[in-house]
Amino acid sequence: MGASPTELPSVSVIVPTYQEALNLPALVERVERVRADHHLTLEMLIMDDDSRDGTEEAVAALGRDWIRLIVRRENRGLSAAVLDGFRHARNEVLLVMDADLSHPPETIPEMLRRLREGADFVLGSRYVEGGSTEEAWGILRWINSKAATLLARPFTRLKDPMSGFFAILRSLPETAAPMNPVGYKIGLEVLVKGNCEKVVEIPIHFSQRFKGESKLSLREQLLYLEHLRRLAEYKFGDWMRFLEFSLVGLSGAFVNLAALTLLVWFSMPVRAAVAAAIFIAMLSNFVLNRQFPFAYAREKHWLPQLFGFIAASSIGAGANYGTALLILHFWPLTLRFPQIAASIGIVAGMASNYLMTRYVVFKKP
Ligand code: GDD
Ligand code: MN
Repeated sequence: MGASPTELPSVSVIVPTYQEALNLPALVERVERVRADHHLTLEMLIMDDDSRDGTEEAVAALGRDWIRLIVRRENRGLSAAVLDGFRHARNEVLLVMDADLSHPPETIPEMLRRLREGADFVLGSRYVEGGSTEEAWGILRWINSKAATLLARPFTRLKDPMSGFFAILRSLPETAAPMNPVGYKIGLEVLVKGNCEKVVEIPIHFSQRFKGESKLSLREQLLYLEHLRRLAEYKFGDWMRFLEFSLVGLSGAFVNLAALTLLVWFSMPVRAAVAAAIFIAMLSNFVLNRQFPFAYAREKHWLPQLFGFIAASSIGAGANYGTALLILHFWPLTLRFPQIAASIGIVAGMASNYLMTRYVVFKKP
């Protein structure tokens, strides 16, 4: 490479913390050594979610003028803290790392070098050649981590997209799509919304957390699924919406049959039960559609939307029936295989349902 170390870009190291007071002195010591050895222009932003565990005292006792502690009392959460850090940062590069010393500060200069050489996004990775992890994971946690990584495949081919150790140019979030991550995979959000092209993974040794315990619960993992859903809507737009809509429709078939079974069990007359089951399935579809693919429509009142949805579903049923009749008429062979005509009818009905729901019932503002 040959360039002198002073040519490395200036960096704001953003460290989200929640109850990491015991880790901060060791973290600061290691970052300070890297900072001095490489003559870095480096500030550190500790984005703390009001831990009340002595974090404020610990930072004050360290007394370093290149460290800023920002205590956050609203909009808590790891991702939100990092995005907040982006806004407070003053240097050319934004570098995010954990406070618990799982991420080696000694890798920072190499990350900066890669950015200087033209990378958009540099990731500290456990799963590229030379990377490793010290965590003694049980088989369940391992499967869990692999599954989470696999689910991120439609968005990235990175080996370790779950990593929270990454660096970008400060200009990147400014030109990225608006970010609204839920949960804690802020790196993935930045990668996708930032339209990063030149992505580099460099190996790290991921150490066991130094002190304290992990904050990442089952709740965070469920939020990860919601995060993926939102990313898919961002990246695949109406295709993802249509997929969700179809899954909701499929769930409606099961709701219909389950409701019918129950109603008949409670001795409702069969014909009435069939009608009631259809209605219940429609209600369930409505609620799920408003929760998932058309969540943006929740700002408006649900009652007119419900009437619209029922009307659209009826029109869809009409389109289904009408199409089937047309196929039977123009393709008499299907009279012997009415399932073919019915299947094409179902597709037409779904398409009609989707279009009406998307463009009329839950019209985008
Ligand atoms: N401000 C803030 N608010 N910080 C938080 C919060 C929060 O709600 N929750 C966690 N943090 C901070 C922690 O204090 C720590 O510095 C960092 O975020 C990561 O949290 P850990 O609890 O140490 O998470 P982990 O070790 O399970 O997860 C790590 O490994 C993942 C890959 O397996 C992190 O590095 C993740 O970023 C990484 O994706
Ligand atoms: Mn950790």
